[in-house]
Amino acid sequence: MRKQSNYSAAPIGVFDSGVGGISVLKHIRELMPHENLIYVADSKHAPYGNQTPEFIQDRSFKIAEFLLKHGVKALVVACNTATAAAVAGLRERYPDLPIIGMEPALKPAVAATKTGVVGVLATSGTLKSAQFAALLENYGQGVQVVTQACIGLVECVEKGELINPSTESLLKQYVQPLLDANADTVVLGCTHYPFVRPLIERLVGADVVLIDTGAAVAKYLKHRLDENQLLCVSNQAGMVSFWSNSEIISTEDIISALWGFNVSVARLKG
Ligand code: DGL
Repeated sequence: MRKQSNYSAAPIGVFDSGVGGISVLKHIRELMPHENLIYVADSKHAPYGNQTPEFIQDRSFKIAEFLLKHGVKALVVACNTATAAAVAGLRERYPDLPIIGMEPALKPAVAATKTGVVGVLATSGTLKSAQFAALLENYGQGVQVVTQACIGLVECVEKGELINPSTESLLKQYVQPLLDANADTVVLGCTHYPFVRPLIERLVGADVVLIDTGAAVAKYLKHRLDENQLLCVSNQAGMVSFWSNSEIISTEDIISALWGFNVSVARLKG
């Protein structure tokens, strides 16, 4: 049997510009229920999509520092926008820490399309990034990739407005150009968007495949923990704690609704 380090019971830190990364946290919890998890929602500074890369890097460094003070053994950047802006800097600053980022799942989408048209819904920060340009270059050849920045959608999810007429009309405007281009595969390139998946499904219809990266990120995290002998060996359910600097009064209710259980949310300063 492989020897596990004492460090294996340490928590995994997960963060996002806000509540969107909870969609990734759910996959992590499902795949590794014994792991202790700390989630940070930087909601006061959401959306990151409209911020400069320098601002996002600064926020990411501050949150990573906070999570390291809480003894995390690995860090998940559960945000496509922060990954594009900050993951390289984080890895440089913390070379010994497993750091898992995420990017729009273009590769599986290109493999899945039958019409040869793939749609990508993401923040403008992600779509404008050098990382996304490299993704297009590597995997977007031979198909048409239609990108759509969804301005304002992160804010709807932050407010807990998942199924309501204004979120639906916003989404309709973003999804229509993809349908007009005959996309049959649509990438959810922002971790907030899985929370409006029912609305997106209703708008695109049953023939369009939606692709989300949360499950793949959880699987890759497990692989990285395993190779570093950091998987938790306990057989008790892990603790999950939530931190947020949101200024929305009902943030605890919103996080509880997204997580699926009533949770208390600690106040993050800054
Ligand atoms: N959840 C973040 C992402 O995956 C949203 C970014 C934002 O706050 O604009 O990109």
